[in-house]
Amino acid sequence: MGSTPCPNDCPNSCLLSPNIDGQTLSYPKLKLGVLASGNGSNFEAIMAAIDRSELDAEVTVVICNNPGANVLERAARWSIPTVLLNHREFESRGALDDAIVQTLRDHDADWVIMAGWMRRVTQHLIDAFTGRLLNIHPSLLPSFPGLHAVQQALDAGVVVAGCTVHQVELAVDSGPIIMQAVVPVLPGDTEETLQTRIQIQEHRIFPAAIALAAHHRAGQDG
Ligand code: GRF
Repeated sequence: MGSTPCPNDCPNSCLLSPNIDGQTLSYPKLKLGVLASGNGSNFEAIMAAIDRSELDAEVTVVICNNPGANVLERAARWSIPTVLLNHREFESRGALDDAIVQTLRDHDADWVIMAGWMRRVTQHLIDAFTGRLLNIHPSLLPSFPGLHAVQQALDAGVVVAGCTVHQVELAVDSGPIIMQAVVPVLPGDTEETLQTRIQIQEHRIFPAAIALAAHHRAGQDG
């Protein structure tokens, strides 16, 4: 994957690490529950990777907290069941996460993929899917966790930005890192232009990182 030509229109190559080119990743077919709040382009990238047989998985459910979110339409186009759990209708984070865990179990999900999930999670959800709960964040963690990560990076004057797939721990955007992509910051970059180039890399690393995490897990279990 690391030697795949960079699709970004930039003078520098983007770097993915670790490089899993040529590595055979083996793991049992995954049943993914996807948590998404908004557009769903990462969900779409995961579906496309499954479709191309680059990721041996099926998405059993998409859980969304925002009525009208674009991800719901995307899921319908792929004929994936959706469940709307509107956080505004729950009395606490714990009550929302109880419903999420139950919904994931009802749909037989064994891995949980936070693909633009804009809610903090509780220990209950983390414990229910220990080591099988993954998030993507548009920065090179541990730098710039939280909201507006791309603008935070620009404000700090960094010359490289990127994105990270990691296992989820309780603190926002924390947990063991699985894969990162580095994206150069170009002269004149705005939050929007940089975000666009980072998202291209998100769509590459998320399916690859899911496969890599599953491969590691299968090694531990086996
Ligand atoms: C991504 O940039 C991701 O890193 C962040 O939320 C965004 C979701 O985008 N956590 P999309 O909904 O997948 O298009």
